Amino acid sequence: MSETWLENWPEGLAGLSFEQQGLRLSWAEVHALGRLNGIHGHCFQRSSPEALEGLTARLDDALQRFPQGAFVRLGSRSPKDTLASMLMRNRAFNGAQAVHLLTNGSERIAFELRRCLRAAYTPWIFLRRWCDIPPESEFRCFIREGQRVGVSQYHHDSHFEGLDAKETLECLRERILTFFPLLTARSHVTTAVFDLVIPRGGDGPVTLLELNPYGAPTDPCLFSWSAQDMDDTLRVRTATGEIARIRLSH
Ligand SMILES: Nc1ncnc2c1ncn2[C@@H]1O[C@H](COP(=O)(O)OP(=O)(O)OP(=O)(O)O)[C@@H](O)[C@H]1O
Ligand SMILES: [Mg+2]
Repeated sequence: MSETWLENWPEGLAGLSFEQQGLRLSWAEVHALGRLNGIHGHCFQRSSPEALEGLTARLDDALQRFPQGAFVRLGSRSPKDTLASMLMRNRAFNGAQAVHLLTNGSERIAFELRRCLRAAYTPWIFLRRWCDIPPESEFRCFIREGQRVGVSQYHHDSHFEGLDAKETLECLRERILTFFPLLTARSHVTTAVFDLVIPRGGDGPVTLLELNPYGAPTDPCLFSWSAQDMDDTLRVRTATGEIARIRLSH
């Protein structure tokens, strides 16, 4: 399946991201999750309760590694479209919570599980070390054929106080320019959208959050998918709702 999925990352690239534990699902587990999730539930076979009990026990076991809890997702994407995920911030401390997050009427999970069924591919669940991420520190970096073509604030409808200040943008630019060669050297893909956490004020390392396919339906944030719009600028939202940009390349 897609090379951006977490199970397909090379070790070096995973080293730039959160500590994580992957669990490959069995077919019985895929069907049990899909059925319980309810969306397009008829596409999944009824399975015995043991499938979910076994999965919950496996998740319980894996979660021991994460006493602060873990962000729960599939290798492809998270169930962030449900109320449960919003309320729990998609964080689980035990297997039952992880299963609950993945089966609470998520269109995203239903879509992914059905896609895996069609491709006869058993997907993975990933538990990722929980880390409080201030929303203004999330950025989306667009890379096409090994070239960086733009970086945007991730929560692009919001203005974050001071993010558009000249010194802040200069500091972000330096951090992006330093991280970029490391990212491309370790990445197995040359065209993708890389989500990054760049801590405010220059403290703490830049962390790779995840990879997304380049192009729709991935959100282009403050860019558009038109090739002409990709001009290797860093873009953030100003207080008046406009887009501030600075050139990244020297
Ligand atoms: N380890 C983590 N700890 C805390 N919060 C996290 C963690 N990983 C991700 N998040 C938060 O959850 C959001 C969604 O996570 P992620 O990007 O992995 O899932 P996704 O479903 O692929 O999202 P998208 O649709 O944006 O590509 C992130 O933007 C971040 O705010
Ligand atoms: Mg994603």
